[in-house]
Amino acid sequence: MSSAPDIIADAVEQALLSTVGPEHAGPALIRPCADPKFGDYQANGIMAVAKRLKQNPRALADKVIAQLQVSEVSEPPTVAGAGFINFRLKPAFVTDQIAAAVKDDRLGVPVVAKPKTVVIDFSSPNVAKPMHVGHIRSTIIGDCLARVMRFLGHRVVTDNHLGDWGTQFGMLLLGWKRFRNDDALKQDPIAELERLYKYVNERDELRDEAKAELVKLQRGDAENTAIWKCFIDLSMQEFEKTYGRLGVSFDHIFGESFYNPMLKDTVEELKRLGIARQSEGAICVFFEDNPELKTAAPLIIQKADGAFLYGTTDMATLKYRIDQWHPDEIVYVTDARQQLHFKQVFATVRKWWKQTPDLRHVYFGSILGEDGRPLKTREGAPVKLNALLDEAEERAMAVVTEKNPGLSLDTQKEIARAVGIGAVKYADLSQNRTTDYVFSWSKMLAMTGNTAPYMQYAYVRVQSIFRKAGAAKTDSTPITLEHAAELDLAKHILRFPETLQAVAEDDKPNWLTSYLYDLSNKFSTFYENCPVLQSEEPTRSSRLLLCRLTADVIKRGVNLLGIDVIEQM
Ligand code: ARG
Repeated sequence: MSSAPDIIADAVEQALLSTVGPEHAGPALIRPCADPKFGDYQANGIMAVAKRLKQNPRALADKVIAQLQVSEVSEPPTVAGAGFINFRLKPAFVTDQIAAAVKDDRLGVPVVAKPKTVVIDFSSPNVAKPMHVGHIRSTIIGDCLARVMRFLGHRVVTDNHLGDWGTQFGMLLLGWKRFRNDDALKQDPIAELERLYKYVNERDELRDEAKAELVKLQRGDAENTAIWKCFIDLSMQEFEKTYGRLGVSFDHIFGESFYNPMLKDTVEELKRLGIARQSEGAICVFFEDNPELKTAAPLIIQKADGAFLYGTTDMATLKYRIDQWHPDEIVYVTDARQQLHFKQVFATVRKWWKQTPDLRHVYFGSILGEDGRPLKTREGAPVKLNALLDEAEERAMAVVTEKNPGLSLDTQKEIARAVGIGAVKYADLSQNRTTDYVFSWSKMLAMTGNTAPYMQYAYVRVQSIFRKAGAAKTDSTPITLEHAAELDLAKHILRFPETLQAVAEDDKPNWLTSYLYDLSNKFSTFYENCPVLQSEEPTRSSRLLLCRLTADVIKRGVNLLGIDVIEQM
């Protein structure tokens, strides 16, 4: 089943081809109309072609329209503005598409014609440190992108690039051997490891001993290796609890240390190819030929003392991923402060291989407290992810017990979990990814507005219509779209596929949250204007099907955000 924008794009490109010939034709660039007054979709591609041909764009648009064959999909198209073409979908077309979506368990979302292999590197917390709210964004955004791309039919490989190597392990090893408190370790292993690290780090007189422990670890000393593995196990057990709560999993958790054996060869190869060279004792990659990067410091891949760095590991990781999975795309989800790092890594890869996968740094801003400063606890410490999720569930529990005191405690808890965790995730995913945002419990838990509880409640409401309806008619009931609100809702439902494509193309989950928010608003308008249960057949059954499709799209959409729906609230 082709979607409306695809059909329109094909037709416009065909018409352009026969109007200006293959050497001048271009993409149709179909976008939804900003204002429904003008239509449903707009073709923006005519202007660029007219410009190249030095023709009047409106006149060219007229010529293209004369060639256009879209009568099955659209009312007669019109020229607008500087040379756009506007299209309004025919109700009959919408009806057919809805009827098909009702019968399709993918809800009308086609599987991509050319699946890509996409590696997504996300979450990637550091061993022996608690996951903090900065990691929450990576985990939630990365997981959502993986879910959407998988659903669209791409082959997705998720890899948690755990920070399990580095100079901090010298201090941790020394702290562990000399200052460990076993009771505290049992209580909260990561907190104790963090304490040990800080304790040693603060004491200059311990620096040399810590360095010696690090060297032993790097040489493969059995005792230190065993302790280091213990750090990883303890940390992973804690991380797994958080991932369990968030419903996030990974195909691989290789971690930085996995690449240690490859670092020496990586540096040698970059030197041999003339990509890296010695400078003041260190081995560096310079970017003299890159206008954006030439003024920044070079990427150091080996220090004068022989040590390898974060960037060296990333180069080895890239080689491994390319050799192993032959990806078409590699996506890195980290905070915005790593932009320079990834620009340098990507620029190095482009010197290394003639053809590289599409490399994307999907970065995000910080989470701020209501005072506009980076989110902190009342005591001024960084907020830890688990504590944040606890608070989310507690606050959601208060909402649930107030709203629905009659439910059993277990049910209330289950609802509070879905709502609380959902609210945190939704608040994050609905932001413009690249900017900072203010963390506000009251906003994210509000029952109105663009929030998880609002979407979950919308789902419950639509579901309750069926409960009242009793047995609904089958999928073969003809769809009739009579009322304007009904048609409007139907058209929006048909935008689900293009929305998911846009999320995957731009790495922007907030396209999906906005879509869902609009969907539930359109549903409300429909429900206020179009009686469902009180209508006569066949309208009643047709409207019930539209309700069911709405519920299915909400459920699928919310799940693609990594959020659970609930059956009552
Ligand atoms: N561990 C790093 C951090 O917490 C993120 C790693 C991101 N992935 C990568 N391939 N560099 O900042």
